[in-house]
Amino acid sequence: MDNFIAIVDFGSQYTHLIETTLLNLGVKSKTFPCTVSFKELHLQNPKGIIFSGGPDSVYNKNSAIVETDFLKGDIPILGICYGMQVIAYLMGGVVRKSAEKEYGSTLLVVDKEEELFRNTPAEQKVWMSHGDLITELPKDFIPLAHTEKTAYAAMRHKTKKIYGVQFHPEVFHTEYGSKILGNFVFNIAGYESDFKMKDSKMKDFVSRKVPEIRNIVGHSKVLGALSGGVDSIVASVLTQRAIGNNLILVFVDTGLLRIGDRKKIEELREKEKLNVSIIDASSEFLTALKGVTEPERKRKIIGQKFIKIFEEFCKKHKEIKFLLQGTIYPDVVESGKVSTSSPGVIKSHHNVGGLPEEMNLRLLEPLRGLFKNDVRALGRVLGIDNSLLMQHPFPGPGLSIRIIGEVTKEKLDILRRVDRIYIDVLKDCGVYEKVWQAFSVLLPIRSVGVVGDQRAYKFVVALRAVLSRDGMTADWARIPYEVLEKASLEITSKVPEVGRVVYDITSKPPGTIEWE
Ligand code: XMP
Repeated sequence: MDNFIAIVDFGSQYTHLIETTLLNLGVKSKTFPCTVSFKELHLQNPKGIIFSGGPDSVYNKNSAIVETDFLKGDIPILGICYGMQVIAYLMGGVVRKSAEKEYGSTLLVVDKEEELFRNTPAEQKVWMSHGDLITELPKDFIPLAHTEKTAYAAMRHKTKKIYGVQFHPEVFHTEYGSKILGNFVFNIAGYESDFKMKDSKMKDFVSRKVPEIRNIVGHSKVLGALSGGVDSIVASVLTQRAIGNNLILVFVDTGLLRIGDRKKIEELREKEKLNVSIIDASSEFLTALKGVTEPERKRKIIGQKFIKIFEEFCKKHKEIKFLLQGTIYPDVVESGKVSTSSPGVIKSHHNVGGLPEEMNLRLLEPLRGLFKNDVRALGRVLGIDNSLLMQHPFPGPGLSIRIIGEVTKEKLDILRRVDRIYIDVLKDCGVYEKVWQAFSVLLPIRSVGVVGDQRAYKFVVALRAVLSRDGMTADWARIPYEVLEKASLEITSKVPEVGRVVYDITSKPPGTIEWE
């Protein structure tokens, strides 16, 4: 693997956040235990090395440490928290227990204009969590920043590309954390941006795929279910470039959508000149879901409705011979499908919509070999708006599986307003793009509260945000309390039906991402 960043793990609870932050920057990383030898790591040729934080104290016997060879080599290094102390210790500086642990959101003052802090302000909020600190820098190191309690909150070697920060750039609370990690990775370590590489790879992909799709489809018509998610949008725009209006898209308004979901499709239709029929089936879906509380039944009913709508549509459009699907590589692996790039006959259990075999459509899956990040890069090359490409996944059954118990119009309306506020707060606070998925859930219970002098008895909503690579496993996101507080205050003041807001701190496993 070339063009990657090595993370040397000293046992920090935040190491996975370093990986996620790099991933969001489009940077590949690989994590090694701190017992890895420099020789072994050098052989793999990383562009840079990040030393994670850790629970130990460098001055204790048996603490986690690396060989000094790391610091003699010429691979750029960034030490974070304990990782910075390891550098200081190995290079002759002094690390001591501090009189008082520095913990939480802290003001950092940058004293020296430096590559590491490029495009960040002189004063910024960072997340601190350390009981030891560097009291004397090693020879040849210069201080870059300080906080009230920490004189050396960032440092660099005078001539070599060795850096250290006492704070945690990888956690949400560090305002410019991803910028700082990006500065190290791209500007200091010289990692070639995957985005740039991907864009040129994706331009080639478009030049290959467009004639290939034309070849396969000929003059036939292709049906595509436009769900509004990243994969279906990118697959649709790519296919439209190849066959124009012979791509017939259907967007089903199930009535289980969020505020703006339908408008997003209408705008895309305009911008990309897509041939989209918007079918409003909201009352049909709601009627079918009346009185249903069991999650699997909800899903089944919704799946069957989708099939019925598509069957009826196809009856009216006999010229349709292909079905376009935004299947990507992880979907193929997950469901153990046979890997083939040629279109085959649909099996009902094969595809997302569950369209039945009798329809005898051939499958067109132009994104089949791609990962999510490739799909986003492809979307960028196709000129699709970034807000569409960076949106979180949204499940097919929509809000119905985020309303626990019976789905009603009233509950949908409440949940829509709550979710809009929550997502807007996350976007305003710069958290949205850092998490895999975030949403709200309306619970089937009411709780007591006070409004003015009156007793209130209102709905409870749960907010959820998770970190994940692929949705298969997930960790609940430690988003800052201030952000949660803002969301809670706005929700309870702007949505009068809601009296209590809770945050879901369950990872997957044992939970799932969705509640139903
Ligand atoms: P769970 O809840 O199984 O979710 O941990 C994993 C990911 O899949 C999404 N999800 C769905 N997506 N149709 C979809 O298209 C569905 O029925 C469905 N159920 C869950 C979920 O939002 C998460 O990203």
